[in-house]
Amino acid sequence: MLKDSFGRVHDYLRISLTDKCNLRCHYCMPENVCFLPQKSLLTKDEILEVAEVFVSDFGVNKIRLTGGEPLMRKDTEEIIESLSKLPVELVITTNGVLLDQFFPLFKKIGLQSINVSLDSLNPIKNRQITRRNYFERVEQNLRIGLDLGFNIKVNMVVMRGINDDEIQNFVNWTKDEPIHVRFIEFMPFDGNNWNWDKVVSFKEILDEIEGVHSIRKLEDKPNGTSKAYQVEGYEGTFAVISSITLPFCGGCNRIRLTADGRLKSCLFSQYETDLLSPLREGIDFRSFVKQCVQEKSAERGGLVEFYHRNAKSEYEKGRCMTSIGG
Ligand code: 5AD
Ligand code: SF4
Repeated sequence: MLKDSFGRVHDYLRISLTDKCNLRCHYCMPENVCFLPQKSLLTKDEILEVAEVFVSDFGVNKIRLTGGEPLMRKDTEEIIESLSKLPVELVITTNGVLLDQFFPLFKKIGLQSINVSLDSLNPIKNRQITRRNYFERVEQNLRIGLDLGFNIKVNMVVMRGINDDEIQNFVNWTKDEPIHVRFIEFMPFDGNNWNWDKVVSFKEILDEIEGVHSIRKLEDKPNGTSKAYQVEGYEGTFAVISSITLPFCGGCNRIRLTADGRLKSCLFSQYETDLLSPLREGIDFRSFVKQCVQEKSAERGGLVEFYHRNAKSEYEKGRCMTSIGG
């Protein structure tokens, strides 16, 4: 088991398949994004090797594929098919643009839960946020996914003055659809122009919804990151991910593998453990994994400055979101 010094067991591995993306969401990518060179990305076999060790030696029982956009790799299909043979719950986070091409595979291997990032239901605004024009395709793919019976969560990063006027629209969407909307507090990453004023807090989000709807609290998963609710009588649900104002590090069971084979014990951690080099040199990397988890900080990668208004410079030493994988 991968236990850290606070007794947290890490059984959930998030693998970023690529840092590339077919969108350019401004809260995620800097304008002039610079992608990793091909040769420093983990190959399909290297990903499988790492995943197998995490499952068989370290008791990982859930794997999430992320990106960038994980469906963009040429060999994504083969990777997913191979990973599905491991005794884990396999799930994915995607921007939804290419989903239609993958539904048959997901059905075949039993991948049932899909998280889709979608920050605006307004086509023009969506285009401004993503700097690309794929809104209709994503909308269509969500429709198909719902009709096929997939369990779909929609991740909406709430940013003041940008899309916070759409909170009610997203909640209304849950009225007749079995969809799970998750409002995410805007987090700071390298190059995403974050500041406190753009953060819409968990409390503000909830107050706004409660001002209009009668809602009830749902039970949260023990290691979950979100606080779930449902409007009385609605088909779907909504949740808030309060990474900024009410962090949930105490129950964290997550560890991340970047597309270039670095292990991060926390999304906000400044430290990375290189697994790519030992993999390519044929060196047993298990002790590095244990050490990485052992050194994990209690909260948000040890960024104590997080609470202060001048915290920004701290994160700017980190990576941008697309190369960590969310
Ligand atoms: N703040 C909050 N959430 C973010 N995501 C990406 N960047 C940020 C950010 N700066 C979300 C995406 C995706 C998930 C993996 O992380 O919307 O759904
Ligand atoms: Fe791509 Fe997701 Fe980043 Fe948007 S948030 S640019 S969809 S990786």
